[in-house]
Amino acid sequence: MKMPADHIREEISQTGAISFARFMELALYCPETGYYEKKKDNVGRQGDFITSVSVGSLFGELLAFQFAGWLDELKNRHEKLQIIEAGAHDGKLAADILNWLQIHRPVLFSAIEYTILEPSPARRQWQQEKLSPFSNVRWRSSVNSSQPPSAGILFSNELLDAFPVQRLGWDASGRQWFEWGVTLDGELLRWSRLPLAASSLPANIVNLPAALLEVLPDQYTIETSPAAESWWHAAAGILSHGKLLAIDYGFTDDEMISPARTKGTLRAYHRHHVTDDVLANPGDQDLTAHVNFSAIQKAGEAAGLRTETFCTQPQFLTRILAKAVPEKLFASMDARQIRQFQTLTHPEHLGRAFRVLVQSR
Ligand SMILES: C[S@@+](CC[C@H](N)C(=O)[O-])C[C@H]1O[C@@H](n2cnc3c(N)ncnc32)[C@H](O)[C@@H]1O
Repeated sequence: MKMPADHIREEISQTGAISFARFMELALYCPETGYYEKKKDNVGRQGDFITSVSVGSLFGELLAFQFAGWLDELKNRHEKLQIIEAGAHDGKLAADILNWLQIHRPVLFSAIEYTILEPSPARRQWQQEKLSPFSNVRWRSSVNSSQPPSAGILFSNELLDAFPVQRLGWDASGRQWFEWGVTLDGELLRWSRLPLAASSLPANIVNLPAALLEVLPDQYTIETSPAAESWWHAAAGILSHGKLLAIDYGFTDDEMISPARTKGTLRAYHRHHVTDDVLANPGDQDLTAHVNFSAIQKAGEAAGLRTETFCTQPQFLTRILAKAVPEKLFASMDARQIRQFQTLTHPEHLGRAFRVLVQSR
């Protein structure tokens, strides 16, 4: 079977150095052997990294409560409401949300359809196994497939950080930006510099003040994710009414460019160890970078969405909890649920870097 490293070497041999974004795409998603195609237990304590979903079912239950509130507001205007999830991986978050709705909002549960946007046949199969108890789950291959727009909620947890990123580097002596590429040195994968047309620079780089460029060290690096931005724009396009929501770690434009963070935010995870050796063992380690939420927000607004909320995960989840108290939901959390809430919100755990963006139409 052809491994990601074989695909990468073959492509470099044929075309010359490839962009890092192409390297990341092949390492994570090449059919059958890419990191996210070949096994489903890479997320969670037994895998390479944890997410809010793998902390326990509380995260999905709190989202389900919030989604029920939003869907109640939309209910009178539209017949069939949808919850649409992207980046569903093994289907655990979908199961947590559907279980909660079935028990606590049975009427709404039977009125909605839960759709998973899933381009990968392998992942779709894992999800079908996990979600077999539910008859109201559908699949759709991507945001680009031609189907009528949907009303409801389209959401993702840690999807945007998994899109391939472009790595841009600053050439201090030439006073210009280049793109980091990947090439071969014998059998070894090495970084190389690719030319970058000034016209393809993202807005946050173009607008950097000259005084800041003066102090940027040579090879100062920053990531950008045109793939995540165009996905968000397309996702907005399939929503006739409702909310588009992303939960992920990320920065605003201003936070993204910090002279002190000279190597960007790109990193690899393997068995809960973080490394910046992102070219090592393609397909065996996760690759990820912080999301630029300002760019995502602009992509949604360009597709006609209104920004409702941009806040931290602790703020978002605490507000949900506060709304649930009068309904006596989540009122008597047991020790296990309290631990989960702390992990989701504490600044030393998932509360530090995670943000929530909600846009609506
Ligand atoms: C970091 S994992 C997060 C999984 C899960 N949402 C969680 O929070 O535990 C990212 C997931 O997004 C999937 N993914 C990447 N690109 C995608 C796309 N265009 N559409 C749907 N899923 C995608 C990956 O395969 C992977 O399963």
